[in-house]
Amino acid sequence: MLKKRILQIVILLFVAIFVTTGCNKNSTPDTEPSNQTADTPPALTGEELVNGRCIECHTMDRIKRDRSNEEWDEHTHRMLSKSPEMFTEEEFLRVLEYLQEQY
Ligand code: HEC
Repeated sequence: MLKKRILQIVILLFVAIFVTTGCNKNSTPDTEPSNQTADTPPALTGEELVNGRCIECHTMDRIKRDRSNEEWDEHTHRMLSKSPEMFTEEEFLRVLEYLQEQY
């Protein structure tokens, strides 16, 4: 009878170990979001953002022109209002900065 108990406990222990290692395996995806945030920092530069998104509706020719900082501010805000999901706020600032510096 006592032997049976011990056997039950041993089996329970094995099950517990199996479950916890199983949980550990399941919890590895938990580390993925932090990996993803580690992946995001190679964030696109202003240049890449402009080359990638601003040419969806017109060519770069339309963009490449000398403009004052105020004009860039105005243009980029107008473009953003056409396609608000184009950039996050941070990306938008990077784009504006790039355009103001570059053109
Ligand atoms: C959703 C489509 C769309 C996207 C995306 C877009 N544009 Fe435009 N863009 C337009 C349209 C349409 C016009 C012409 C009408 C106007 O000026 O509002 C224009 C005009 C412009 C002009 C004025 C050109 C001129 O001849 O004066 C500039 C500068 C410009 N875009 C820059 C950009 C930049 C920089 C981006 C990226 C941040 C961008 N656009 C993204 C649609 C877009």
